[in-house]
Amino acid sequence: MQLTRPACPAPLSPSSPEAPTTLRRTSSTSADDLDPAFTFDFRPLEDPGERQRFSTWLEVEAGCRGPEPRPGWVVASRAAVDTELGVLKTGKEADVHLLERAVPGDPHQSVVMAAKRYRGEDHRSFHRSSAYTEGRRTRSTRDARAVARRSTHGRAVAAGQWAWAEWEALRRFWIAGVPVPYPVQIDGAEILMELVTVDGQPAPRLARTRPSRAVLSGYWEQLRDAMAELVRHGVAHGDLSAYNLLAAGDRLVVIDLPQTVDIVANPAGLDFLMRDCHTVAAWFASRGLDVDEHELFADLLTAL
Ligand SMILES: Nc1ncnc2c1ncn2[C@@H]1O[C@H](COP(=O)(O)OP(=O)(O)O)[C@@H](O)[C@H]1O
Ligand SMILES: [Mg+2]
Repeated sequence: MQLTRPACPAPLSPSSPEAPTTLRRTSSTSADDLDPAFTFDFRPLEDPGERQRFSTWLEVEAGCRGPEPRPGWVVASRAAVDTELGVLKTGKEADVHLLERAVPGDPHQSVVMAAKRYRGEDHRSFHRSSAYTEGRRTRSTRDARAVARRSTHGRAVAAGQWAWAEWEALRRFWIAGVPVPYPVQIDGAEILMELVTVDGQPAPRLARTRPSRAVLSGYWEQLRDAMAELVRHGVAHGDLSAYNLLAAGDRLVVIDLPQTVDIVANPAGLDFLMRDCHTVAAWFASRGLDVDEHELFADLLTAL
């Protein structure tokens, strides 16, 4: 049976969506035609409140939902409601919010995710674009011109492109087994992904931690493996640092991947890889680990 969901604006704005009080059946079948064994599952939904919307899970196309096998915590129910819990972090190009997706009254279907929303209106986001994206093409010349002109449409296109690039990277590398957050869905400039936590709290950035020596060397091994896997796929992270790595207990998680650089097609690709090596090796060395950026770089090249 088909139910119509109200078109919910995404991302949420504080001045909340005007959702109708009920969902409507759109099937042309009248109630009289129904098989008596059929359970009529229509029930009015309460109006989503301020900072709420109906789950957008079924609104997006199949390719905009996360890869299989999906983790058990993903809430895919039609009855789910998204609730804005607040801002986790504001950044230059995007803000990361906490978003709960839950079926009201069902404690087993409730999850808090990270909602990363790219800002369309931020001019600074254009500054680093060209060096990273050299070799990639914008699908329509109209969109390319709009991006270059920085018109309102162009800014929206660019926000969507950054979000899409990060979505593709998360999908690809989650499938490849790289420790990245599970990508739940993309809707325009908003990506919903696994919230990486430690002891029930959002995991800190590596830069903010003081790990023991044993944990530190464990992190280094994980980081090398993750970077090698990216290189096997022909890419460098492009903005790797202790700020884009989350320390989840013993586990390191790589985040912030909209600018992955093609190290073969992009003429500056290997420079980006070297810069990543330099940044992370310098951080680990500053914490007392005996590591060398050139050794790391050379090791990684063997994975190409
Ligand atoms: N999946 C996640 N789980 C937990 N925290 C996250 C997650 N994604 C982002 N964050 C937090 O939000 C911050 C900004 O996210 P990031 O993807 O690095 O965006 P930016 O482009 O603003 O640097 C991160 O440093 C981290 O603290
Ligand atoms: Mg970041």
